[in-house]
Amino acid sequence: MKIIEYNNFKVHPLAGALGAEILDIDLNKINDSIFEEIYKAFVDYQVIGIPNQNLTPDEYLTFGRRWGEIHHYPYMKGLESHPEILEILKTETDTYAFGNVWHSDGSFTEIPPKATMLYAQELPPAGGDTLFADMYQAYDTLSDKMKNILGSVNGLYVGDQPLKLGNFSGAKSMKQQDPGKTKVHTHHPIIRTHPDSKNKALYIGGHAVEIEGMTKEESTPILNYLKAHSTRPEFICRFKWSPGAIAIWDNRCTQHYAVDDYSGFRRRMHRITILGEEAPY
Ligand code: SIN
Repeated sequence: MKIIEYNNFKVHPLAGALGAEILDIDLNKINDSIFEEIYKAFVDYQVIGIPNQNLTPDEYLTFGRRWGEIHHYPYMKGLESHPEILEILKTETDTYAFGNVWHSDGSFTEIPPKATMLYAQELPPAGGDTLFADMYQAYDTLSDKMKNILGSVNGLYVGDQPLKLGNFSGAKSMKQQDPGKTKVHTHHPIIRTHPDSKNKALYIGGHAVEIEGMTKEESTPILNYLKAHSTRPEFICRFKWSPGAIAIWDNRCTQHYAVDDYSGFRRRMHRITILGEEAPY
């Protein structure tokens, strides 16, 4: 368990594995040195929650741009006024919650997002939490033999709609779009080294469907094992949303899962994804 002290704010760890809440901070009033510490907490804890924010879409985007270039998500349209902000909406009558599968955002894109931020706009009375899993521990707890094998292979990562992950058609209120000519499948190393922490992480999730150079019969059981192993309860934290909360997670060393346990209620979130680094990782 990490207990780390910062100069500009207090943090409250969310679980033994990963995750922390940053307390007493107003994102409208941060300067570069506070931002540097927020980024440090993000690298230290892999997912950070910042409760009680009050940002307009412009202010939210200004904060988002501090993290880097905006990543383009090929399956969804953004807000009309702010196309870089995607609205994740499940209404009282929708039957599928977007993100209701373990995954790392956009892993099927050529340069996947390093970070995702999600800002709570409307929440159900209970439920609708997001789970996060620590891909450093998922890697560290593999045998040396498995680490060696995986260290030399790439996975094939495929986008949501070709895979029909969950019942995407039940997410009727989402502003979906046809990816058109955008490539929605790509290869990435299954083990990646984080550019800031220098730690190795397992890069896996619902989008990973094959191991390059292996037959489907060979790679499916290995991937199934890795998907189950990487989401063991010991590697997980649970983020409970509150009105105005923002969570920011590192897609290079976490997976996440949107819990769909609020049928008949409404949940609306604003998402910004930040472009990551080009391979090799
Ligand atoms: C996502 O997968 O980006 C959405 C997560 C959530 O809505 O909790």
